[in-house]
Amino acid sequence: MKVYITRKIQSKAIKYLRDNGLTVSVYKEDKPIPKSVLIKNIKNIDALIPLLTDKIDEEIIDSMTKCKIIANFAVGYENIDVDYAKRKNIIVTNTPDVLTDSTADLAMTLALACSRRLFESRKLIDDGKFKHWKPNLLLGYEIKDKIFGIIGAGRIGEATAKRAYAFGAKIFYHSRSVNNKMEKDLNAKKVSLNKLLNISDFISLHIPSNEKTFHLLNKDNLKLLKRNAVIINTARGDIIDEVELAKILKKGKIFSVGLDVYENEPKIHPELLKLNKIVLMPHIGSATVEARTAMAMLAAKNVVNFLHWGKPITPV
Ligand code: GLV
Repeated sequence: MKVYITRKIQSKAIKYLRDNGLTVSVYKEDKPIPKSVLIKNIKNIDALIPLLTDKIDEEIIDSMTKCKIIANFAVGYENIDVDYAKRKNIIVTNTPDVLTDSTADLAMTLALACSRRLFESRKLIDDGKFKHWKPNLLLGYEIKDKIFGIIGAGRIGEATAKRAYAFGAKIFYHSRSVNNKMEKDLNAKKVSLNKLLNISDFISLHIPSNEKTFHLLNKDNLKLLKRNAVIINTARGDIIDEVELAKILKKGKIFSVGLDVYENEPKIHPELLKLNKIVLMPHIGSATVEARTAMAMLAAKNVVNFLHWGKPITPV
């Protein structure tokens, strides 16, 4: 049976697939595979392992005549037309859990980098402006005793909340369902989205991208934010209206923004690039040795378990 992987992933996973009797082909270049090349290479495969940068639409799905499983190398799967795959009897899997700590670590990294003005600090030094210690130089905010608002109390939201709680923050959250563990262990309180935006000092997003979450933070509700608010997005770019976010930050209506994801990745809105009170990262939430190895292995195990025994580990 044949597996196609759209990029060179961790070799341990490729070995695992081969050790389990599968023939593996990998797109050799370290950039997104062009659609025409993908279509040419996947006609007779039994399993596809794509990345979040590969749009697996109807045309791609139709071009695979035998494929039984699409094992996404990501926890988010908005890049795949899951409904259409299901209609074609193709199972879709993702890589949850294994990147939770890595992503929550990055959310906290951004929270701290924003509240302690990391980017501006480095710039001041690079510009040769660090002349002496000053009582009011680059004052930021502490996390202790602040309200840390979590949007989406799933695995990553909860792991981020735990970290913020350890820093002494008060945890509030907005989510579809009650997270009893967060309420019990972290004394977290569930509130409406508007209330959360209105009371939080830090806001961190942990929800998937779909038609319901598109521009969840927009012109109307961004107005509710406090002046010292720090917004963190390690989820997906299109959950926030990037243009409106740039506008309120530019006008000084909030304190800072930390982004790992963008509406039109890898493009970043030029207005965001001009701002100082912002920390930008190139979508590296799961970029730790631990998480990426585990993601590759989970994608590979989903393929092997399904093709050999009909049981995927993490179907979506
Ligand atoms: C990364 O963004 C992922 O969805 O795994």
